[in-house]
Amino acid sequence: MPAKQDVPQGPALLDEINRLRKSLDAVILAHYYQDAEIQELADFVGDSLQLSQQAAKTRAKVIVFCGVHFMAETAKILNPDKQVLLPDLDAGCSLADRCQPEQFARWLQQYPDHKVVSYINCSAGVKALSDVICTSSNAEKIVRSFPPGQKLVFAPDRHLGAWVEKQTGRAMVKWPGFCIVHEQFTERQIQKLKVRYPAAMLIAHPECDESVLGIADFVGSTKGLLEYVVKSPAKSFIVATEVGILHLMQKARPDAELIPAPPSSGCNCAICPYMRLNSLEKLYLCMRDRTPEITLPEEVRVRALKPVQRMLELS
Ligand code: 13P
Ligand code: SF4
Repeated sequence: MPAKQDVPQGPALLDEINRLRKSLDAVILAHYYQDAEIQELADFVGDSLQLSQQAAKTRAKVIVFCGVHFMAETAKILNPDKQVLLPDLDAGCSLADRCQPEQFARWLQQYPDHKVVSYINCSAGVKALSDVICTSSNAEKIVRSFPPGQKLVFAPDRHLGAWVEKQTGRAMVKWPGFCIVHEQFTERQIQKLKVRYPAAMLIAHPECDESVLGIADFVGSTKGLLEYVVKSPAKSFIVATEVGILHLMQKARPDAELIPAPPSSGCNCAICPYMRLNSLEKLYLCMRDRTPEITLPEEVRVRALKPVQRMLELS
């Protein structure tokens, strides 16, 4: 890591990032869970589906992904000839990290007559073993695209899988994965908050436990939650997802009271430790040094591309 004096500070840091963005012909894509300062300077901020759609259509030569590894990897799957940079290579995801391709391939051997639907929060190796990819905003639609008699495997998030089962009435074999951030919300703590804020709407990401989703007024992807708040006549909302989403929510609804659901850790709000590894300084350094760069064995990339493209076609 270069010494602090190598990194411009304050407004000079923003100027340098902007200069590099131009000189590299780079696009900066950011997820809603990034720090507000990163969201503010990104060319596009969105959920996993929107970000993969942006990655699929960008004309920029370099994609700088302010998100986690599987998101940048998806951009690389779609753009073999572009350079894809991730400010911190350790920005993983508990869902992706706990579903390794070798283990997943062995597990799948039990279900030879099943089609495999994988949540985008997985590695390229797992995508390569899948028939179609989905995100939290299109999972229901993707599952419904299979004929009713088709047996399905859903991986790696058991909570999203259970939510989709409930919405579609279709039973699926589920990989037992979970998100360490969303799994921390409990019905008990949220019920306590609802007593304190009786008029508040509870909105939750489908990675939450079923008991939390069962009492939610609305369940949706990060984009879905944001849109719900923008359109809702309600004045207060308990938000059960990573707190980064509150930045644009509050900007869009300055009049609304946004109450982050507290995780069981005792903190006031839930923070994804992986997403927050990225910082403005690391963003600058990765553009200056053009590293860390996402690379993939071509054979894996080609196999992973098919289910990603299928998702984009169906979305
Ligand atoms: P979205 O697809 O809703 O952006 O979710 C991504 C994610 O990692 C949620 O934890
Ligand atoms: Fe993964 Fe959960 Fe972080 Fe999203 S919030 S990137 S699912 S660990």
